[in-house]
Amino acid sequence: MNILVTGGTGFIGSHTCVELLNAGHDVMVLDNLCNSDAAVIGRIEQICGRKPRFVEGDIRDAALLQDLFAEYPVSAVMHFAGIKAVGESVEKPKKYYQNNVEGTSVLLAAMVQADIRTIVFSSSATVYGEPASVPITEDFPRSATNPYGDTKLKIEDMLAELQRTTPGWRIARLRYFNPVGAHKSGLIGESPAGVPDNLMPFITQAAAGLRDELRVFGSDYETPDGTGVRDYIHVVDLANGHIAALNYLRRNPQMLTVNLGTGKGVSVLEMIKTFETVNHCKVPYRITNRRPGDIAKCWADTRLANRLLAWKADRSLADMCRDAWRWQQAQTPPP
Ligand code: NAD
Ligand code: UFG
Repeated sequence: MNILVTGGTGFIGSHTCVELLNAGHDVMVLDNLCNSDAAVIGRIEQICGRKPRFVEGDIRDAALLQDLFAEYPVSAVMHFAGIKAVGESVEKPKKYYQNNVEGTSVLLAAMVQADIRTIVFSSSATVYGEPASVPITEDFPRSATNPYGDTKLKIEDMLAELQRTTPGWRIARLRYFNPVGAHKSGLIGESPAGVPDNLMPFITQAAAGLRDELRVFGSDYETPDGTGVRDYIHVVDLANGHIAALNYLRRNPQMLTVNLGTGKGVSVLEMIKTFETVNHCKVPYRITNRRPGDIAKCWADTRLANRLLAWKADRSLADMCRDAWRWQQAQTPPP
């Protein structure tokens, strides 16, 4: 198939491009590079021996999308383009609605016009807000605790509406848990701009000496060791989940909503310990207060994805730590 990958030079999009190319698909990337680098395209070619086409541009540019769909016979869209910093979304909610919600609306309108009716969308476990219990199944109530989360709810609703009102749509709403790790080649990975918000990039930067110490946000949660528990999933497993979702949609012209996680909860201290053990290094850390807005624990019930997609995340926590560290070291080689 010819797949348009929006946000394809980003963290999850780039790993998915690799898996799409490896599965024999042709790939066109559309990215405005607001949080990534065009050099990623060459890295993907190094890994796959094949290069995606690349268009630098914005999903909000209707004319560009129209030209692109006229020129290139796209049969499905994988839609990763979006901005995702929770803290910034609280300060600048409008920016998040304009980019994520309005951007998706422009993209969907262009798809309708071009008669392209298959889309795989990057949703998030954030749509579960503060879950009443774990593991989380797809029928749990949805809510948003910040504007970023609200954009995901609104896009999920927009897609559901489209599916209800327009025949022939094939839609996957994939709710990611906590993607970490990197491609084993060390050629692509996560490159957060500025100080990382997320745990894994902070760990790798602290271990590399780029940050004085990791702050562990709270040790008084109701979890086995008191630190927050999350469902970390290797980004390559996540990328493969997208291929499985696309294959599902080819067989089933309907809307699919599934969790993509491992189904296992890992605490912050367990993550630090595993990272230190597998990589033979130290992660300097200090326990501090809780981070406002954080929840104690969050992990997926993955049975629906396992059954419908015949897919399972099987890379271990050790793999995630090893691959994230390899990528970090490729960014900052030792002196
Ligand atoms: P990322 O920032 O690495 O990638 C997103 C890409 O989209 C970037 O390359 C950016 O330049 C591009 N982009 C943003 N706005 C655009 C626009 N208007 N037009 C064109 N390109 C644009 O982030 P990621 O971690 O790869 O996330 C991909 C998607 O997955 C996002 O929608 C994100 O909300 C979602 N998601 C991520 C996580 C996570 O923890 N990483 C968890 C759940 C969901
Ligand atoms: N943590 C620390 N120190 C840090 C960073 C994180 O102790 O410097 C802890 C957090 O308190 C939490 C765990 O590590 O217990 C994971 O935190 P992340 O920021 O990596 O991930 P979150 O689960 O908080 O949030 C992520 C995304 C959100 C998304 C959510 C659900 O960043 O955008 O997953 O999908 F909404």
